[in-house]
Amino acid sequence: MNDPGPDHLVLVGMMGVGKSTVGRMIAAELDRPLHDSDEMIEERTGRTVREIWLTDGEPAFRALESEVLVESLAASEPSVIAAAGGVVLSEANRDALRGPEAHVVWLQADVDVLLERVRRGVHRPLLDDDPEATLRTMYEQRAPLYQEVADAIVSVDNRSINDVARAVLRCCG
Ligand code: S3P
Repeated sequence: MNDPGPDHLVLVGMMGVGKSTVGRMIAAELDRPLHDSDEMIEERTGRTVREIWLTDGEPAFRALESEVLVESLAASEPSVIAAAGGVVLSEANRDALRGPEAHVVWLQADVDVLLERVRRGVHRPLLDDDPEATLRTMYEQRAPLYQEVADAIVSVDNRSINDVARAVLRCCG
């Protein structure tokens, strides 16, 4: 396997695309620490993403999302970062992702594939009502933003998680 070098390897993409699972596999393969944004937020606050979102509101959640991204990118040890899906909404975050310390891979999927996968998760209050319409609108809004920060794009459609992890490692070597 190729090692992506001194940069942080950052996975971005829509909810349900597999950033956390693929991130965990790649981090193990490269023997790097994994920074998973949602997990970091939950550890730091002692609350679930859903609780923060529903009690404090989206802006408070987005501030935490940015805080953990900036912190992960500032770490001196090269890592794998599974960034939360909404991280690209902030211009400051996009600037940070375009910086020299980040090698960004956009994990891309059809909305139909995402829909099938998000049925299993509980930490996505944004999808409580009409997940299909929400995901389609969100995809249209966010695809250009993921594109803007991506150094590479890996499609997950018709690929096992294992194959996706291998494709990411191949593209970033
Ligand atoms: C969000 C994605 C979720 C979580 C929150 C908001 C988003 O993380 O941070 O529900 O706005 O796309 P995942 O991308 O890990 O599902």
